[in-house]
Amino acid sequence: MLYSEKVMDHFSNPRNVGEIEDADGVGEIGNAKCGDIMKMYLKIDDGIITDAKFKTFGCGAAVATSSMATELIKGKSIEDALKLTNQAVVEALDGLPAVKVHCSVLAEQAVRSALSDYYTKQGIDPLPIVGEIKEPEE
Ligand code: FES
Repeated sequence: MLYSEKVMDHFSNPRNVGEIEDADGVGEIGNAKCGDIMKMYLKIDDGIITDAKFKTFGCGAAVATSSMATELIKGKSIEDALKLTNQAVVEALDGLPAVKVHCSVLAEQAVRSALSDYYTKQGIDPLPIVGEIKEPEE
């Protein structure tokens, strides 16, 4: 089986799909090569991510990784969310085929992009905290 049960589960039954209307941070990231786009909405209260939702126009692995990423950051502090790596998302999904690992980078960067927007809205320069948001290249 190419995909783990967890990947199939998060693909067929993605968690936290949708938008947050009064989101504190919204991020969007795309992959120019495959054309997939991920949008991430965060609700942040006192440094804690109280809600996370996403919309992904993309491949199954992109849907599964964004679903897992939202699950992993909900209830966590911003600091923890900033530490979320695509590798951690892949591990939480019990792995991804090598050709699909780049899809998880989209999820990681979507979270960072939303956090970057959060800081910008607070009048804080996000660059020293969040770093550069990189569009995955492969
Ligand atoms: Fe584009 Fe998966 S193939 S994100």
